[in-house]
Amino acid sequence: MAEAIEVKDLTKRYTSSLKKGWFRREKIIVKALKKISFNVKYGEVFGLLGPNGAGKTTTVKILATLLLPDGGSAKVAGYDVVEFSSIVRNNIGVTLTVEKGFFWKLTGRENLKYFGMLMGIRGDKLNRRVNELLNILGLERLGVSDKFYEEYSLGMKARLSLARALLKDPPILILDEPTLGLDPPSARAMRELLIKLAKEDGKAILLTTHNMFEAEMICDRVAIIDEGRIISLGKVDELKRMVARRVIIDIVASGTPIGIDAIKDRISEMIDGNVGLSMDDKGRLRIRILSRAGSEESNLAEAIKILSNLSIRVNRVRLEEPTLEDVFIALTGKSGI
Ligand SMILES: Nc1ncnc2c1ncn2[C@@H]1O[C@H](COP(=O)(O)OP(=O)(O)OP(=O)(O)O)[C@@H](O)[C@H]1O
Ligand SMILES: [Mg+2]
Repeated sequence: MAEAIEVKDLTKRYTSSLKKGWFRREKIIVKALKKISFNVKYGEVFGLLGPNGAGKTTTVKILATLLLPDGGSAKVAGYDVVEFSSIVRNNIGVTLTVEKGFFWKLTGRENLKYFGMLMGIRGDKLNRRVNELLNILGLERLGVSDKFYEEYSLGMKARLSLARALLKDPPILILDEPTLGLDPPSARAMRELLIKLAKEDGKAILLTTHNMFEAEMICDRVAIIDEGRIISLGKVDELKRMVARRVIIDIVASGTPIGIDAIKDRISEMIDGNVGLSMDDKGRLRIRILSRAGSEESNLAEAIKILSNLSIRVNRVRLEEPTLEDVFIALTGKSGI
């Protein structure tokens, strides 16, 4: 079977203008996507992770056939998004962050029925599907299925968007920030639902997020996108292995023979990484070593040797896994998303 989504060297430029004074405008070209490539498989949750303006929504809109690319190619369900846009649309469910497509003066249920009819679902089948989705997305439990859309909160709107995306039970879901605006328990429920849709129903899910914690929790693979380029792609574990692990050494340092700056200098000289040292008011010394990938163990051994030569007793040693945030900082030099 073909991959669910195949993106190759995709580029997109926007023409925009900068206001320069009252009457003058300067035309500028924004290169939103600079040759990005990635694939998404059926049964997989794939995350596009990146800061504001990275190009996530642009990618989603091109894959959803809402925006034309300038170069490269994108296939969804095996079909080119430009040439076969209607077949692509038949195979996808899409949610966007800024939803304009619902009717404010219809209820959630009526909105779903309307869109279901447009998709060719009729009669009892439509009623059953709409009821099922109102239940799955928790709108029934919140008691808002028959409330007007204009009265919906951000989180209720996000749920209704996913319900609409699922109406036709499409094999591929393309979701722009699906948990934006959801409270923590609802976000958790939404994430569990997405995992189930991928693992049990075999759907391919492409989602965007700037939430590293979310990407770590639900994505099988992640592409980190920044300024229109994919700067790293792989399983979350693989990405983490590329960056340093922290070695944390907790010490009760009663009566250290030399000052903490001197201890820090001695350790710094011998290890491959950065050392941080602090002492709390109870005289507990904490040493943090941010090691380069692969040198954690030898760094730890060196540090322990130095401390034991100084007759400083070590209480506790911990190796901390890096987070996706560490990966992002290491790759981009930026302080976070
Ligand atoms: N219609 C447009 N006209 C001009 N520039 C645009 C347009 N839409 C997006 N851009 C620019 O393209 C770049 C990528 O935007 P995009 O919306 O894809 O980012 P994003 O990763 O979704 O960001 P966010 O996390 O804020 O949603 C940004 O520099 C943005 O300003
Ligand atoms: Mg966006």
